[in-house]
Amino acid sequence: MANEYDKKLLDVISKLINLLIFLLVLVIVLGILLYNYMPEYVPAPDIERETSTVSSAPLDEKKDVDTVKYWQAPDVATLDSDANKDLILYGKDLIAHTADYYGPNGKIFKSTINGMNCQNCHLDAGTKVFGNNYSAVASTYPKFRARSGSIENIYKRVNDCFERSLNGKAIDTASKEMQGIVAYIKWLGKDVPKGNVPEGSGLKKMAFLDRAASPENGKSIYSQKCASCHQTDGLGIMNGDKTAYTYPPLWGDHSYNNGAGLFRMSNLAKYIKYNMPLGASHNSPQLTDEEAWDIAAFVNSQPRPKKNIKKDWPKIEEKPFDHPFGPYKDGFSEEQHKYGPFQPIKDKIASSKKK
Ligand code: HEC
Ligand code: HEC
Repeated sequence: MANEYDKKLLDVISKLINLLIFLLVLVIVLGILLYNYMPEYVPAPDIERETSTVSSAPLDEKKDVDTVKYWQAPDVATLDSDANKDLILYGKDLIAHTADYYGPNGKIFKSTINGMNCQNCHLDAGTKVFGNNYSAVASTYPKFRARSGSIENIYKRVNDCFERSLNGKAIDTASKEMQGIVAYIKWLGKDVPKGNVPEGSGLKKMAFLDRAASPENGKSIYSQKCASCHQTDGLGIMNGDKTAYTYPPLWGDHSYNNGAGLFRMSNLAKYIKYNMPLGASHNSPQLTDEEAWDIAAFVNSQPRPKKNIKKDWPKIEEKPFDHPFGPYKDGFSEEQHKYGPFQPIKDKIASSKKK
């Protein structure tokens, strides 16, 4: 009997051992499989965070973080080793405080300009990202410009702004002042390779409206968002000793004339959208596109000095879509060239260029 019992016991033990071996092999095989074929661990999306952004945050904040590397002006502190240091700093001061030199009480010439500073439009002495900066001037001039129908160097371009934006007289190219302005502008762009236009240069592109811009709408937004500084009459405010503007004029006798860059609606709308009210920037605009276009329409409908611009755009087919003075090749009215809608004009210009 005992034998029979032993045999059964041995049988069970050997079955158990087999089972153990089987389990061991199973564990090893599973381990190898898991190690080789397991997908990499990816954390599940944080559903709560995503949905709460959708429901409560304004659309703008959901946009991807802006990782573009924008142009940065060279640091003035590095000028110490520059042989041109004094001239460059003189040029910078002329751009920041133009009225001190040429304004109503100017040190060089009195009242040869409207009293504004270059910096009023070329913000932070021409260094602000999308604040109409000078980053691409040294790298792209001399260049052909269709407005004059000629190749322009930096001197000519600077004097254009003296005559149009500052509604004044061109200055002598050989003067220390012009030499300083150009030295500063060239120094700002010294690290930009020839022919390049860096990110953040000039003014930021903006979509067109699919309707004409409305001066009436613009007027009411202007009174809410702009008049506190530029005044309801648009004439700005001078400083206490009347040497320069604290808040520059947007129209009237001391504003830019009808041949200036800002008199083109697209330039003014872009400038306003990404720079005004004071403190706005390309990554913190305070106006919608519609508001910016409508205010631009209002501002550029107000009275301002006139320049004889008959010689501008000698080839009429080169006139930009928003040049508000005919004649035109494209068949659209002066009214539409001034207020839009601009897309049909642009399309027509593009298709006739292809032919
Ligand atoms: C009322 C505004 C205003 C003032 C003031 C002004 N500018 Fe300008 N300037 C502009 C605008 C707008 C443009 C761009 C025009 C365009 O692209 O059609 C421009 C363009 C330029 C350019 C060419 C930039 C480029 O990248 O091609 C230079 C250089 C320049 N200005 C220099 C000056 C200097 C120097 C002064 C002062 C003496 C001055 N500007 C005053 C509005 C102004
Ligand atoms: C808090 C005051 C303030 C407000 C509000 C303000 N601006 Fe300005 N604006 C300025 C100053 C100051 C400058 C000149 C900047 C500089 O020199 O650095 C300027 C410059 C300008 C210029 C270029 C120079 C010129 O006179 O042509 C325009 C155009 C302009 N502003 C339009 C507007 C518009 C449109 C609004 C309303 C959406 C507005 N600003 C709101 C203070 C203001």
